[in-house]
Amino acid sequence: MNKLNLVSGTRPTGKLHLGHYFGVLRNWQELQDSDKYNCFFFIADWHSLTTKYSDTNDLQSNIVELTRDFLACGLNPNKSTIYVQSAIKQISELHLLLSMITPNNWAERDPTLKDLVRAANNSQTNSPDLTYGMLGYPILQSADILTFQGSLVPIGKDQEAHLELSREIARRFNYIFGIEFFPEPKPLFTTTPLVPGIDGDKMSKSYNNDIKIAASGDDTFAEVKKMVTDAERAKRQDPGNTERCKVPYPYYKILAEAEVLEQVKQECESALRGCVDCKKQLAGIMNDFFKPIREKRNSFSDQEIKNILKEGNEKAIEKAEQTLKEVRNIIKI
Ligand code: TRP
Ligand code: SF4
Repeated sequence: MNKLNLVSGTRPTGKLHLGHYFGVLRNWQELQDSDKYNCFFFIADWHSLTTKYSDTNDLQSNIVELTRDFLACGLNPNKSTIYVQSAIKQISELHLLLSMITPNNWAERDPTLKDLVRAANNSQTNSPDLTYGMLGYPILQSADILTFQGSLVPIGKDQEAHLELSREIARRFNYIFGIEFFPEPKPLFTTTPLVPGIDGDKMSKSYNNDIKIAASGDDTFAEVKKMVTDAERAKRQDPGNTERCKVPYPYYKILAEAEVLEQVKQECESALRGCVDCKKQLAGIMNDFFKPIREKRNSFSDQEIKNILKEGNEKAIEKAEQTLKEVRNIIKI
């Protein structure tokens, strides 16, 4: 049986953090290694321009570092096609063609863009936030997926509305041209654990509460020390409560063996362990877990990374050109 195509991308915004690892990359690696799909994983550099069009000094180094994170976390260029979006010009061609058949209000209705659209319509001045490219964000995303005939798209819930639009665009293309050409891509929501930042909020670079996958052991320890614990545990002698423990305990849940987890809970709740020691142990577990990933991360030179991308881009272009040839035929252009 033919394998289905699976497509997903990430914007190159800098080194990835543990939220990305447990929320995205570990899932991608497992999907890849299940051998059930043809996997296409890419770096969405065009998408990063929708907001950072004038701030591109770090773009190339971000692409290299993101690829480094991909490879370190187990994405394998021999199993998956790994590429940079902007190297695949066929995607931009499909974006243009799909934009011709996409009603403007479909794009404006995308809830992620709705607020921007409303602000732009209300203001008397030109809104620099809502560019034409930004409005096209979900159409470009549709082109990303459909260029590779993607049927499955592993994404977070925040991307659900974009993907719904991709399905509608695929359906409309097939309807207009009277051919079942594009599959309707389905989201693949994988269960992801809660990954808090050191302050207890969702881990995010913009909240400045993240720990990078690439962090050193010492840096990791320094960040773990700052983690918010059980706010009601005032003194070392007070029993703690793991359910109230904001950050360290959720990480134990993600990383520790069942016996360790049980031990932490008992010792915390009987005041046998203090938070300082508990964090020390956690940092150790974290560093053990990420050690091979960090070593792998550092094992590639920049040149090796660029070569891997070059090969991935070539593989992607071949597939993309196949699709676009057919699309041009169907449209008769
Ligand atoms: N919009 C996605 C994000 O911000 C990135 C992305 C771009 C993407 N194109 C895609 C994800 C295609 C899945 C499929 O995370
Ligand atoms: Fe959290 Fe550990 Fe402190 Fe208990 S002892 S509150 S689990 S950090």
